Amino acid sequence: MDKEGIKVDPIPDLKKLHNASLLYTIPSFHNPTGTLMTAQRRNELLNICRKAQLPLVEDDVYRELWLDEKPPKPLKAFDKNGLVLYLGGLSKSLSPGLRIGWVVGPEPAIGHLADIKMQTDYGSSSLSQYAAAEWFSSGLYQKHLVDIRNKLRIRRDFTLKTLNKHFSDLATWEKPSGGFYIWLCLLPSVSLRKLFELALEEGLLLNPGNVYDHQADQYLRISYSYASLSDLEDGLFRLSMLIRKLI
Ligand SMILES: Cc1ncc(COP(=O)(O)O)c(C=O)c1O
Repeated sequence: MDKEGIKVDPIPDLKKLHNASLLYTIPSFHNPTGTLMTAQRRNELLNICRKAQLPLVEDDVYRELWLDEKPPKPLKAFDKNGLVLYLGGLSKSLSPGLRIGWVVGPEPAIGHLADIKMQTDYGSSSLSQYAAAEWFSSGLYQKHLVDIRNKLRIRRDFTLKTLNKHFSDLATWEKPSGGFYIWLCLLPSVSLRKLFELALEEGLLLNPGNVYDHQADQYLRISYSYASLSDLEDGLFRLSMLIRKLI
């Protein structure tokens, strides 16, 4: 990936190399990097996958959590050939406990997926589905989204301010325009394993980059969605001190 999202040029060769049958992508506020794929890159990605006859799974669970402006339209909006399976859900925007998500795709694919779902979990809770339907039809969900964006924006801005205060000589990062995550690139070369263990002894649980990509061993995923502002400030300050100790 680069700052505009997934890089498209290597896709045809990678498809051949791995005999790949599917491309999975999170175009809006990617987990863990926070990257928002540009409209142009979305277009290029769809074109290259169409040419390579490579179906896509578009995981768009962070779409509604935009903080500055609405993200570009989903890839699915331009999919004329039934190449894209589109995923959305309520786990990130409302409640993971509801276990409600959805998939948009060609009917035969949906038929197969419904079959598999039936065999793995007997289907989603009716009660959860009724609750979700009520949120959507009453307008409550739209109101909730406005509220959640306002709260998330405060958290994002506070976290960026805290990073500026304690990490300006230790790391680089981009300002995410939505979602939950800041992908922190550590400047000094420290062992992530040592840092992880040291932090754990202090009661700090880190999300090291190599959980997501074995090459990302100078990265940490910072999530500003859950901890209180005071815990964010305290945790980030203590993390910066641990890094200083290691170098
Ligand atoms: C991109 C993405 N898709 C799906 C999920 C999982 O969501 P759920 O709780 O609905 O299984 C996550 C959770 O972290 C995620 O980041």
